[in-house]
Amino acid sequence: MASKSEFQNPILHPLVFIYQVLQYLIAKALSPNPPKSDNELDRPKIAIIGAGITGVTSAAHCVGHGFDVVIFERGTEDSVGGIWTKVNDTSGLQIHSVMYRFHPSVQWQGGYPDKSQILKAVRDLWRRYGLQDKTRFNFKVEKTYQDEKGRWIINNPSNGRFDGLIAAVGTCGAPKRPSMQGMEKFKGKIVHSSELDGIQAKGKKMAIIGGGASAVEALEFAAAKGTAKTSILSRSDKWIIPRNIFVDTLLSLNIFGQETILSFVPEFLLRKLFYRDLEFLAPSDKGLFMDTPMVNSDVMEKLRQGQAEWIRGDIVQFEANGVTVNRRAKGVPKGGPGHETLVEADIVVLATGFSRPSLSFLPDDVFEEPYDPPNWYLQTFPPQHPSVSAINCTYVAAIGSVGNWHIGIYTRILLMFLVDPLTRPRGFWMRRWIDMTKVLKMSSPTGAFDFFTYLELVWWFVFCVAFNPFRWKWALFVFFGVGMHLPAKIVEAEKWLLNGRGHDVRDKGVSL
Ligand SMILES: Cc1cc2nc3c(=O)[nH]c(=O)nc-3n(C[C@H](O)[C@H](O)[C@H](O)COP(=O)(O)OP(=O)(O)OC[C@H]3O[C@@H](n4cnc5c(N)ncnc54)[C@H](O)[C@@H]3O)c2cc1C
Ligand SMILES: NC(=O)c1ccc[n+]([C@@H]2O[C@H](COP(=O)([O-])OP(=O)(O)OC[C@H]3O[C@@H](n4cnc5c(N)ncnc54)[C@H](OP(=O)(O)O)[C@@H]3O)[C@@H](O)[C@H]2O)c1
Repeated sequence: MASKSEFQNPILHPLVFIYQVLQYLIAKALSPNPPKSDNELDRPKIAIIGAGITGVTSAAHCVGHGFDVVIFERGTEDSVGGIWTKVNDTSGLQIHSVMYRFHPSVQWQGGYPDKSQILKAVRDLWRRYGLQDKTRFNFKVEKTYQDEKGRWIINNPSNGRFDGLIAAVGTCGAPKRPSMQGMEKFKGKIVHSSELDGIQAKGKKMAIIGGGASAVEALEFAAAKGTAKTSILSRSDKWIIPRNIFVDTLLSLNIFGQETILSFVPEFLLRKLFYRDLEFLAPSDKGLFMDTPMVNSDVMEKLRQGQAEWIRGDIVQFEANGVTVNRRAKGVPKGGPGHETLVEADIVVLATGFSRPSLSFLPDDVFEEPYDPPNWYLQTFPPQHPSVSAINCTYVAAIGSVGNWHIGIYTRILLMFLVDPLTRPRGFWMRRWIDMTKVLKMSSPTGAFDFFTYLELVWWFVFCVAFNPFRWKWALFVFFGVGMHLPAKIVEAEKWLLNGRGHDVRDKGVSL
């Protein structure tokens, strides 16, 4: 937590000061206390797979509310922080840190933290909640299954038995390095966008393959290093939105989570006020609410100032001194007609993304169509297993954030299902909710769960809690992490009334 001395001077930096005070108050009011010792921790016991921000945050919530956890992480102790340990030192948040408050006790010093600040925040959280002794490193989870009582086993029974499972393996695994024709004859350097540290780029020509957030980040790197020329070679168009907290928040408030008849309004405004003379870069084949937009204001300026050029086209092959691209006009799809151009380069950056970590350690039944990921209850609970939540790793695209309050909300919904059998959804109702969401989004050009906005996510949570009267007593706990005492007492009374039925049901892991 920020000490008072870390607050900015309120006269010199009034907005930052207000932000810091708000964070301080939120932390005081909403952070569960770390457990003083293991004796305070009880069942349900949760297995958490992955020690990135999602795994560490959900673990901190569990132990903060008195439930024991074990985190299984395939990497070494240096992996705490997940993908942020593997990116460039210059990487940072594109979105404002208001949208990256993954735990209420995390307090940012400013708007756009960089890699080192993000890693510090995750690792401090990990230590603050005493998770060091609860994390097993060099442990790759390969299979998970339930015993006869419905308790989860991770790889084999010697690793313990768990009442619940949180998969937090993320969406960015190993860097993707597609092999392209002629790479072997290229005389320059080829690096992935996550390996830019230490690259000498001053005065060099740089070609960046890819048109996603990493490509934009590589462009920033190139500008900072003073390259002679930078070319972005992008085979598909993506929306770029300004790095502005009000614009980004407004867009995330589209509760329908899809294209609507009004989507032309923000698209028109972006074209006219943000893209302006660079309007040809805005996608013509894709609405704003169909894919994760890139958040960056500088890229437009760099293109205007001639520091970089943006080339729409497919890579034909590498040459000794660059890359040949089939340059396409706006609207011509990937692989369509164009004209071949040689883009000279000394360095080629593969900003081609990351492979997706596998969820195949989960039981086979969770992958049965049409209820395969991301088509799960609230996108993270497979309908066969309400004791499993795959937080942030079924994510496809969104206008929102991976690192925000929802990690806590998902974790507490799982805890509610585990602690209170009367709140636990039956597979039948989970499937009906998925079907309902598909019907509500049937006019969406994307799959119902392939794109969402942050307000839509909040609507899912509200619906989940409001739908079942037994969940009402948990509302404060689910949304804010406070007030667990009362519902926990009521559950005890319910168990007594049900003559132990609740216990039996939980122990067998059967969904009600
Ligand atoms: C350069 C970059 C910038 C980004 N910027 C933003 C941003 O501004 N805003 C935003 O919202 N998101 C951003 N992201 C997305 C990023 O993925 C999230 O911010 C967040 O870090 C994801 O955290 P996570 O814990 O879900 O996954 P990860 O950080 O990927 O952690 C997953 C962990 O699970 C472990 N693991 C995987 N499989 C297994 C297994 N089978 N057994 C055991 N352990 C396993 C991995 O080793 C890893 O440590 C960015 C990503 C990158 C690459
Ligand atoms: N600070 C930030 O917010 C930030 C920074 C970096 C990354 N990220 C996050 O990290 C994740 C990964 O982002 P990313 O930009 O690395 O990957 P990405 O979003 O998957 O984009 C990869 C790009 O490479 C292109 N590509 C892939 N293979 C190609 C090939 N063989 N030939 C030509 N082009 C190819 C893709 O084109 P197609 O689209 O046509 O496939 C796409 O434009 C995203 O979730 C992103 O939001 C965030």
